[in-house]
Amino acid sequence: MAFVVAVAQQKGGAGKSTVAANLAAALAAAGGRVALLDTDPQHSLVRWHEERRKHGARAAPLHFDAPAGWRVGGALDRLRREQEFVILDTPPHAETEARVAIRGADLVLMPLQPSPADLWASEATLKLAAAERRMLAALLNRVPAQGRLKEQVAAQLAALQVHLLGPSLGNRAGFAQAFQEGLAVTEAAPRTLAAAEVQALAEAIRALAGR
Ligand SMILES: Nc1ncnc2c1ncn2[C@@H]1O[C@H](COP(=O)(O)OP(=O)(O)OP(=O)(O)O)[C@@H](O)[C@H]1O
Ligand SMILES: [Mg+2]
Repeated sequence: MAFVVAVAQQKGGAGKSTVAANLAAALAAAGGRVALLDTDPQHSLVRWHEERRKHGARAAPLHFDAPAGWRVGGALDRLRREQEFVILDTPPHAETEARVAIRGADLVLMPLQPSPADLWASEATLKLAAAERRMLAALLNRVPAQGRLKEQVAAQLAALQVHLLGPSLGNRAGFAQAFQEGLAVTEAAPRTLAAAEVQALAEAIRALAGR
């Protein structure tokens, strides 16, 4: 049975698609059967995957699909039996797809940038995950190289009793560069800090999945 991760955050632009693509590719590179589902009508990952097809062996094999609306649940049921990990990218705002994805997930992975606005906007996602009784882990994304915001937001999450993953992702141009090419940073630029961060994220998710 697959471990299903819904990457969800109602705030737009928090890094859901970036995190979903990089996590899926890093897990797949280790040889596991991994499916990536784009449930966002914006179809960022559909475009990413179209680019990805051009890379052949450089890109770890992923099962990819973009089910819409009510089809998400059915796709998930089928993949749960066939795959080791299923990673779902979800739309911003409380759209049906995000609810269905969270309902079907073993883990809600909630990226947020270390800023007050992102923290406040996270409330809706926290409520949704709690209402569905899903395990949730927050992931700090686009962490600036300097300043104390990371520690401050980490303390605020702790006060809310939200589990924060140890690894975080820095604010690095390599993420957009790799995404444009249809790759993960671990594939496009494996010897970078960004790639090391994604590897650490994949390890943390494997540990939560007990694999
Ligand atoms: N760690 C990072 N470092 C630098 N840029 C990043 C990082 N993570 C995401 N970005 C950039 O931030 C922007 C938003 O990221 P992304 O599209 O992944 O967010 P999203 O939550 O999926 O957005 P939406 O809510 O619109 O679906 C993109 O331009 C992306 O390249
Ligand atoms: Mg997105």
